[in-house]
Amino acid sequence: MINIVGLNKLQLKGFTACEHFQKLAFAPISAFREISQTHNPRANDDDVLLFLAYNADQLAGYFGILPDELTLPDGEKIHFGWLSTLFVSEDFRGLKIAPQLLLAAEKAYSQNLMVTEFTPSAERLYRKSAMFEDFAIKNGVRYYFQSNLAQILPSKREIFAKNKKILKHTDNLVNTFIPYFSPGKNHLYKISKSIDKNLDHFIAKEKKNPIGRSSEEFRWMLDFPWLSTEKEQPDYLFSSYSKDYDMFWVSVYQHQEIVSAMLCSARDGHLKVLYYFGNIGLNVEILPKIIKKYKIKMMTIFDGQINSAIQKNKIPKALYKRPMRRKYMIHSGFREKLGENFDFKFMDGDGDFSFT
Ligand SMILES: CC(C)(COP(=O)(O)OP(=O)(O)OC[C@H]1O[C@@H](n2cnc3c(N)ncnc32)[C@H](O)[C@@H]1OP(=O)(O)O)[C@@H](O)C(=O)NCCC(=O)NCCS
Repeated sequence: MINIVGLNKLQLKGFTACEHFQKLAFAPISAFREISQTHNPRANDDDVLLFLAYNADQLAGYFGILPDELTLPDGEKIHFGWLSTLFVSEDFRGLKIAPQLLLAAEKAYSQNLMVTEFTPSAERLYRKSAMFEDFAIKNGVRYYFQSNLAQILPSKREIFAKNKKILKHTDNLVNTFIPYFSPGKNHLYKISKSIDKNLDHFIAKEKKNPIGRSSEEFRWMLDFPWLSTEKEQPDYLFSSYSKDYDMFWVSVYQHQEIVSAMLCSARDGHLKVLYYFGNIGLNVEILPKIIKKYKIKMMTIFDGQINSAIQKNKIPKALYKRPMRRKYMIHSGFREKLGENFDFKFMDGDGDFSFT
């Protein structure tokens, strides 16, 4: 008999430090994610943030939800949840525990659920449930700025995994001959970890997509990351650690005014532009400076407008490019509430992509 327990904000607070958590066979959340989730300005007090599935008193699986909010063109706000971390222990797979977790989430969020960045097994589950339908697909690009064979190839073939050292030497050798392809334009720009008054005004003026985050919410993202640079959460499937991780704003100034700004993350040499505002061309033209400063090896962009601007401006230049696809699925009941004319304009950082 499977028992599903939901933890809301208050119940999740301090969960990773309690005795019960320490005794679990595997961690259903990391300490950093707990702190972030319980500070989410868009989470209501009674939102369930983590579902736990127990078989008798044994933890069998879990499902994390990230609450969010959409604004419809008529100004109506709709509260919803992003499906985030779904896991069932191998000892309990095939027992329909995941579908039960999904049903619990459907009920708790009144069908207002959406998901992106899922594994093939999770996709099979969502499709089989007949709750979800396709919502959108973003065709992205991964840009490579340096040779990075030692990181990319070992997961593809065992022979590469065995010869990681040789790949690393090859990377180092190739990279000494690769200069940064373009220095970027010499715009006046500032990198910051915090949001000052100028940036605050700029974001408020420019925010436009249906998720429409405010400075307060961006502060939450910056203040409560999910990745620790110190230690990994033991026995946790999802990301909890990166040896080199940073999230930061890049603002471009003209005549002492901010004219463009973007929130970026750099994780072990991988750059993502999570949110951007203002002049896209200027944002793109400053990217080479960021690539150089953070020793970026690759960058992934799903946003069509940024990718077009990169193509048009021919900045930043990449050694190699690879197409990427990101699918979004939505609960059919939620899709109906959004209406036929809902304008899907999500930014790359929407969902839990900003945190991973
Ligand atoms: C995806 C996942 C949550 C499904 O959980 P579950 O409780 O086993 O789900 P179900 O019982 O409905 O079984 C799912 C499928 O796995 C198959 N399965 C059965 N026994 C299995 C086993 N021992 N090991 C693996 N899969 C098994 C089932 O037959 C079923 O196949 P079907 O869809 O063709 O019927 C689970 O496989 C998992 O935790 N995967 C790794 C983490 C992951 O990918 N999470 C998603 C992140 S976005």
